[in-house]
Amino acid sequence: MKAIGILPGDSRLGGNALTSLELERPVPKPRDILVQVEAVSVNPLDIRMRNAPLEAGFQPRVLGWDCAGIVLDCGSEVRLFKPGDHVFYAGSITRTGTNAELHLVDERIVGAMPVSLDFAHAAALPLASLAAWEALFDRLCISDAGENSGKTLLVIGGSGGVGSVAIQLAKVLARLQVVATASRSTSQAWCRQLGADIVIDHRADLRTQLIDYGLSTVDYILCLADTDYYFSTMASLIKPHGHICALVESANPLPMNQLRSKSASFSWEGMFTRTLYSTPDMIEQHRILTRIATLVDEGRMGSIATKIIHGMTEVNLRQAHAFLEAGGIAGKIVISMQPPL
Ligand SMILES: NC(=O)c1ccc[n+]([C@@H]2O[C@H](COP(=O)([O-])OP(=O)(O)OC[C@H]3O[C@@H](n4cnc5c(N)ncnc54)[C@H](OP(=O)(O)O)[C@@H]3O)[C@@H](O)[C@H]2O)c1
Repeated sequence: MKAIGILPGDSRLGGNALTSLELERPVPKPRDILVQVEAVSVNPLDIRMRNAPLEAGFQPRVLGWDCAGIVLDCGSEVRLFKPGDHVFYAGSITRTGTNAELHLVDERIVGAMPVSLDFAHAAALPLASLAAWEALFDRLCISDAGENSGKTLLVIGGSGGVGSVAIQLAKVLARLQVVATASRSTSQAWCRQLGADIVIDHRADLRTQLIDYGLSTVDYILCLADTDYYFSTMASLIKPHGHICALVESANPLPMNQLRSKSASFSWEGMFTRTLYSTPDMIEQHRILTRIATLVDEGRMGSIATKIIHGMTEVNLRQAHAFLEAGGIAGKIVISMQPPL
């Protein structure tokens, strides 16, 4: 099968080269489904992996951690899907990625695709949705049934993939007051369109802007950008007994004592934790994606695809990486296997 992977050297983008590969057709393990990839989306993780130094003796690695496609074949113990089903999923960082014609994934982390979306719009959702869902409802312990209705959530980095889903879930399910940060007029408009009640600029002082809206503290903070930089600001903005969740690894030890007098909590969210450690509750990701598909089909949340590139070629994948690295895009960049209509 055809795939695009990273190889050392010959870099046309900085980092390692994205190069066409011819690989063996993958064979499903008992809980695997074999998927014909119809669309993928690009995540900051792809850029970090492409830029990471490669070890000596490195084998070509296929990147890509979001997929919408069609089930072609099933392992002997697969129960949730059958050939012909349309599925969407983020996959596992421990396995080969989705920038390929065919892809293997454990059925327990896969959802049936929303019937109201095409492959390209569905492919934008899985990784961001899993991260946003786990962060809000598992880490921050916000009720997905509205029991914390009226409390305030600050989303730092509201217009990226995770923020774009988190804003929608926090409004539609949790019924929170949502404050999102975005720095450009287009990304600010995008956050409002997704349902954010208040949008402030992360290039200016967050505290001053919140006070202008009558908010000196907030109940929850979801940090989707530079955790080191925002930690002290978050510690000052969080309410006593409030809860902060961060998704971006810090470069330095975090000054946790700043949260002590408020008895505030801090959690990490890693949407690959379940697959990385094969936790017994891996199937929760199937359940989350099923809930997401239902919300989409009910018209309660929408896709976050804002740029669709047609054709999985080296040139197009490099272009998608370059767009993401340059910034300036709200929502998600998708590569569809289909030519434009
Ligand atoms: N732990 C996990 O499971 C997990 C999962 C997914 C993503 N992540 C990480 O979470 C981060 C966000 O990823 P993503 O895919 O949602 O979005 P992304 O594409 O990285 O987010 C881009 C957005 O971030 C905003 N931004 C840029 N610099 C910022 C800053 N200094 N402060 C606040 N916002 C800033 C920009 O908004 P403006 O253009 O308006 O400035 C931009 O629209 C990435 O670092 C990613 O690697 C972690």
